Amino acid sequence: MAVYNFNTALLRAPAKSVARGLRAVGGEDPNFDSIASEHQSYVAALRTAGVEPIVLPALEDFPDSIFVEDPALVFPEGAILLRPGAPSRRGEADEIAPVLYENFDTVLSLPEGGTVEGGDILTTPDKVMIGHSARTNQAGAKALQRLLTELGRKSEIVTTPEDVLHFKSDCSLLDEETILATERLAQSGVFHGFDVIKVPSGEEAAANALRINDIVMVNNRHPRTIDLLDQRQYKIEPIKTDQIAIIDAGLSCMSLRWQSAAN
Ligand code: GLY
Repeated sequence: MAVYNFNTALLRAPAKSVARGLRAVGGEDPNFDSIASEHQSYVAALRTAGVEPIVLPALEDFPDSIFVEDPALVFPEGAILLRPGAPSRRGEADEIAPVLYENFDTVLSLPEGGTVEGGDILTTPDKVMIGHSARTNQAGAKALQRLLTELGRKSEIVTTPEDVLHFKSDCSLLDEETILATERLAQSGVFHGFDVIKVPSGEEAAANALRINDIVMVNNRHPRTIDLLDQRQYKIEPIKTDQIAIIDAGLSCMSLRWQSAAN
C-alpha cells in the first residue's frame, strides 16, 4: 500500500470565528459563507477520491481549528497528539484527542516543552520529514523523533524556508518517488533521491497539493502548475480556496488522512 492510499479522513467544520484565523499578511477578513462552501467542496473532493470523511463539529473558541492537520499526526500504526506552536491553537490537541482515541489503538502525545504542528510534517515512504519552523521548534522536533521511533518510523529534521508558515506550505508528495516543491525549498537539497517537480515562479502556493489514492488535489488558482502535472499524467482535481487562502490554508491542512481497517 502506498503512503498516499487512504480510505478515511478527519475534518472539522469551520466555526464563524474562522474569519479571525491567523494569517501572515493582514487585510480584510474572509467571508464565512464562502469558506463554508469551499470546505464543503473539499469534503466532496475527498469522497470522490475514495475517502470516507468524518466531520467534527465547529469550535468557536478556536478560529483555526478547521486546520486539523496541525494538532495531530496519524499513521496506520497509531496517532500522535502534537502541541501547536501558535498559542491560540494550543488547545486544539485536547479537542481532537477523543476522536483519535476512538479510532486508534495507540495514541502518543508530544511531551510539554516542545512544539510541533502537523503542517511541518511530510510523510514519505522511508522517513518522516520534520520541518523546523516558527511553529515547530527543535525540542518539539526531537521529542517527535522519539515518538516516531516508538511507532517504528524513521525521521529526519529539516528546515522550513524562512518566512514560510509550514514545511508543507512549500511541498507535497506526488507519488513514492516524486515531490512537488517550490524553487526555494528544492534548492535546499532536502529532497535528495527524489524526482522534484518545481512549481512555476509566482505559483508557490500550489506546492501544497494533496495526493489521495489516484487523485492529486491542486489549488485551482495555479493553472501553470496544473498544466505541468497534467503533462506528467497526474489525475488532477482543482480545488477552489479563494477565501480559505486568506487565512493561509493549504490543501493538506484541512484533513487528517489514514487507511482504516474498519472502512
Ligand atoms: N491560519 C493557519 C495558521 O496560521 O495556523
